[in-house]
Amino acid sequence: MKMDYNNMLTEHIGEKGIPVSALEALKPAIDKANRAMSEKRPQMAWRDLPYNQVKIVADINAYVAEMKDQIDAFVVFGIGGSALGPLAVQQALNHPHYNELLREKRGNNPRLYIVDNIDPERLVYLFDTVDPTRCLFNVISKSGSTSETMSQFMIIKEILEEKLGIEKTRKHIVCTTDAKSGNLITIAKEEGYKTFYVPDGVGGRFSELSPVGLLPAAFCGIDIAGLLEGAAQMDDLCKSDDIHKNPAYMYAALHYLGMNTGKNISVLMPYADGLKLIADWYAQLWAESLGKKYNLKGDIVNVGQTPVRALGATDQHSQVQLYMEGPYDKIMIFLGVEEYRETITIPKTYSHMPSLGFLGGVTHNDLLQTQQVATEYALAQAGRMSMTITIPKITPQTVGQLLYFFEVATAYAGELMGIDAFDQPGVEEGKNATYAMFGRPGYEAKKAELDAAPTKSAKYII
Ligand code: PA5
Repeated sequence: MKMDYNNMLTEHIGEKGIPVSALEALKPAIDKANRAMSEKRPQMAWRDLPYNQVKIVADINAYVAEMKDQIDAFVVFGIGGSALGPLAVQQALNHPHYNELLREKRGNNPRLYIVDNIDPERLVYLFDTVDPTRCLFNVISKSGSTSETMSQFMIIKEILEEKLGIEKTRKHIVCTTDAKSGNLITIAKEEGYKTFYVPDGVGGRFSELSPVGLLPAAFCGIDIAGLLEGAAQMDDLCKSDDIHKNPAYMYAALHYLGMNTGKNISVLMPYADGLKLIADWYAQLWAESLGKKYNLKGDIVNVGQTPVRALGATDQHSQVQLYMEGPYDKIMIFLGVEEYRETITIPKTYSHMPSLGFLGGVTHNDLLQTQQVATEYALAQAGRMSMTITIPKITPQTVGQLLYFFEVATAYAGELMGIDAFDQPGVEEGKNATYAMFGRPGYEAKKAELDAAPTKSAKYII
């Protein structure tokens, strides 16, 4: 992986850029963040995932081998960190129409459905597509209490038990959850479901390289050891305290400096369909980790940077107008590949027409890569900050590298910003209000608070 940050700097984009002197002036904050990253590493259990899962990988692969021929589809019930990672990895490493392929073209692997939302249409339509008695349902919830996921679990358990009886239902449910606490582990133990664990110290959005992501990926034939190998390679690069040698630290430092001059938006724009959902996964990681009211000292700071997902070339025809001429409030991150996995050549059909003839004989590969370079150039000319991350090719190793890179960058940005990147009190607040509205025991005070809130005025509703 290479990261080119020329177009973040005044040297290349003029006065709207970051002067190299600002990076030098950041040295005390960088030294402090470096120390914090080393001291806190033992608590960041997600950093050990590339190394400590040899047995887990073997267990997952053995379970896949035992189960995969017995099912038509593997269905994930999970939300947030339990869904976005599996979605991103599946899209990156499998055929874009994976579920529609004949089974032998899927490596004889089951189809994959990842059901995060609880729009009632979603489950009903899923059951129009798959026979639940031919599915394995992976209920993923670290806390074991998330209403969306637990309600899906309750629905499928009832459906399966009605169709198959309690005994046979067991084989159709596998849980991924905390080993010790929460409703899901209690239920899994009592009712005898196969279980994989989210290790202590690995939060939802940092869990893709744990069984949360590895189990669905393995069922779809993805080389999960390769993902972890890539993450370990990136960990090596991210060990240096010298930000000029550590791409994740440099990424975070440049974003931090950008934020300090009003760059409140971080746009991740892959130029490969396979990486499109990496941008969705990144959006959660960056938003939920860095959007915080309080700093570590307890002062109100209300910080964060809004992540935006884009796709090249599609969004050149949608969002790029804004990025070129709108407010100077964005950092663009181009995410490209040196080599696409397929090649397609445009025929020389209209060589007599100069405005189409230039396309003849060109590959889509070259056209897309050239468009990326041209967009980078145009933005730089307009004084817009951007950087470019390039991977050689989309493989399990490079996807593992990317995931780990963004995780370290997020943790480091959190240190520079002086906030806790690993909690999510804002998300909890919404969850608590939902529990109170449904009268869940223990949420009486919240219910009283909600009841006392001002009611909406009819005059402002049209
Ligand atoms: O990153 C996070 O912590 C969240 O997005 C969680 O993944 C999400 O809220 C689901 O939580 P849980 O795994 O406890 O069901």
